[in-house]
Amino acid sequence: MNPFTPDTLASLARTHGTPLWVYDAATIERQVAALRSFDVIRFAQKANSNTHILRLMKRCGVAVDSVSLGEIERALAAGFKPGEYNGHAEIVFTADLLDRTTLARVAELGVPVNCGSIDMLDQLGSVSPGHPVWLRINPGFGHGHSNKTNTGGEHSKHGIWHGDLPQALARVSANGLKLVGLHMHIGSGVDYSHLQEVCGAMVALVRTVKAQGLDLQAISSGGGLSIPYQAGEPQIDTAHYFSLWDAARQEIATLLGHPVALEIEPGRYLVAESGVLVAEVRAVKDQGSARFVLVDAGFSDLMRPAMYGSYHGMELIRADGTAATGPVLDTVLGGPLCESGDVFTQGEGGVVLTRALPQAQVGDLLVIHDTGAYGASMSSNYNTRPLIPEVLVENGVPRLIRRKQTVAELLALEVV
Ligand code: LLP
Repeated sequence: MNPFTPDTLASLARTHGTPLWVYDAATIERQVAALRSFDVIRFAQKANSNTHILRLMKRCGVAVDSVSLGEIERALAAGFKPGEYNGHAEIVFTADLLDRTTLARVAELGVPVNCGSIDMLDQLGSVSPGHPVWLRINPGFGHGHSNKTNTGGEHSKHGIWHGDLPQALARVSANGLKLVGLHMHIGSGVDYSHLQEVCGAMVALVRTVKAQGLDLQAISSGGGLSIPYQAGEPQIDTAHYFSLWDAARQEIATLLGHPVALEIEPGRYLVAESGVLVAEVRAVKDQGSARFVLVDAGFSDLMRPAMYGSYHGMELIRADGTAATGPVLDTVLGGPLCESGDVFTQGEGGVVLTRALPQAQVGDLLVIHDTGAYGASMSSNYNTRPLIPEVLVENGVPRLIRRKQTVAELLALEVV
């Protein structure tokens, strides 16, 4: 979806130049509201880690998940505390390994660590006895919108293998660590036909914890909730999703004899629909039967189509700020990078597709929808292209929340 009028985007493009990310705060607030039944909504900030977005999340009462030292520092910069808030950690660090610098920092801060390998338990225990830990479990199966986003099963590098849970619990005890909870994230863009199986797996895992004489305070259902990228795709039924997890939580609470908090850890669901990428059409050319429209944004800005063959809705705006109309043409949309894969209309495996759009002219704006998640956060400096600006619109007021990077800033790193 696109929360903005053509006129607003044309005006922002004039002010800030293109390409440009634009986010709508109200859409984020609406998505947060749909998950309020959960005790803790923990934003997987990898989806969009701009500190202004993180501050907005904090104002909405949302906690945060960090997956790198940089993301921990971002959370701190946005005002999240390393300690607890209403009995829940504001920041949790999730990973499958601890590099030495991050190990020292989480030990110093006391940020709970969601451990995806048993080695992490030993490394953490050796420097930070009593440290709060979650165990991220790979239940032996997973799902995702692409093989690259399936994070469960024996071909996934993620999580502690379910059969190794007894061994992991023994290492928690031997290292004097404090078990907070169990966590499962089986993939991104999950197909919910298997949700019952996922919840059942969590209950079985907690039985193992109890049988080994340990206790926990919380469980996390992970993230993975999808959004309708294509017309006709359904919105997730969050009430149904909650009710299945709540039933599992109640079974677990009965088993343990005390209340257990239920966390959810979405990234995409909270921010994807809030954002668009605005680019300017700079060249139009016909080659054989194909019409190519080339814009000033590339996969260095929006990686998802090149990486996963992801579909994003698109529309054209004329330079005067009106929606483009007229007969449509099958169009290939590409960017400026020196690489054939720099095409926004492609399927999995890189097959080039077309999109039916009104005839584009140089100077039109291309608006790429649903890019608030895994858009800016996955951008790179490939082809020495500086990161592009981000604007957040709140109550109708646009605010620049990241300026454009400069080439001089990129070169400065190499002055050693
Ligand atoms: N929790 C953990 C431990 C994760 O690894 C992830 C995503 C999430 C939560 C949030 O998943 P979400 O709710 O956003 O689906 N770059 C890909 C998505 C990769 C997600 C990796 N982990 C994309 O653009 O689709």
